[in-house]
Amino acid sequence: MQRKIWINGEYVNWDNAQVHILSHSHQRGSLIFGFIPIFDNQGVVSLFRLKDHIERLFKSCTSAGIPLDYSPNDIHMAIKDTVRENPGSKYVKISVYISSIEVDVVPQDPFSTIAIAAYEPHQDIITKNKQPFYTSKELSVWLEKEKHQRRHDIIPPQVKIAGNYTSSMMAKWQARKNGYDEIIFTDEKGYITEAPTSNVFIINQENVLLTAPESDVLYGITRKSVLEIAKNENINIKEDKIPPHELENAKEVFLTSSSHLICPVVKIDNRPLESQNLKSITNKLKMRFLKIIQGEDSFSNRWLDKV
Ligand SMILES: Cc1ncc(COP(=O)(O)O)c(C=O)c1O
Repeated sequence: MQRKIWINGEYVNWDNAQVHILSHSHQRGSLIFGFIPIFDNQGVVSLFRLKDHIERLFKSCTSAGIPLDYSPNDIHMAIKDTVRENPGSKYVKISVYISSIEVDVVPQDPFSTIAIAAYEPHQDIITKNKQPFYTSKELSVWLEKEKHQRRHDIIPPQVKIAGNYTSSMMAKWQARKNGYDEIIFTDEKGYITEAPTSNVFIINQENVLLTAPESDVLYGITRKSVLEIAKNENINIKEDKIPPHELENAKEVFLTSSSHLICPVVKIDNRPLESQNLKSITNKLKMRFLKIIQGEDSFSNRWLDKV
């Protein structure tokens, strides 16, 4: 099946959805993006916290100075329409980018293009690539102390812009070569921040759920959801700067993202953790999250936006 990508109001076949090699977004990394999970509960297709995702996209565009010719409501409707056009999709990727050909770092024609793609990553991408896709049975994580990402003094951490992911790519690629699956970054002062494309949660020996403050990381929609679930479950929460010893002494660690929701970390720098135990707090939160996305929880109606 040839998927169709919505580009500025028109559907374009997947293979024809291209940008010029000299476009500003391609040359300078000026592409803002969002990634939204789709859940199908016995034929009822929903998008997870769509309004929150759109709000974050617009905030990123405003911070980066990238103009948008559409309203949040236009984008809301276009996303749902694209999902209907592409049955069986598991995710939506929305991109806002300066597609004009530019010579300067400041674009002469700073008009943005919006593209909305709905797809199933395995069938539409992974199986079509030549090399096998990297998978791991257990999530073994390296604490990256040398290289930093999403520094306030370079790009605000809340901006989801392509150029802000190059340091993550380099650091994580190196960690993979060293035998780890994932990395967790620290900031310039040594505090734990987040992973390349997920937020980090720690459960300490006193069963307190720790995560870095919103001002220091990307506003993860899954992070926000986990905090709401934890509050509802009467779990003690501390949103604050996390010194590295908290990770070194952690009982459990998990990562959150739209692609993996709650992902238990099995080992940090080769030290085993209890995150995967059935009685762990991580597992409790994970099970509750599953009920929500299956439409069986009191939170489901608020968070699942039916297509
Ligand atoms: C840097 C970073 N942190 C955290 C996240 C997790 O955010 P969300 O839960 O909204 O997917 C992402 C997602 O892409 C990310 O890129």
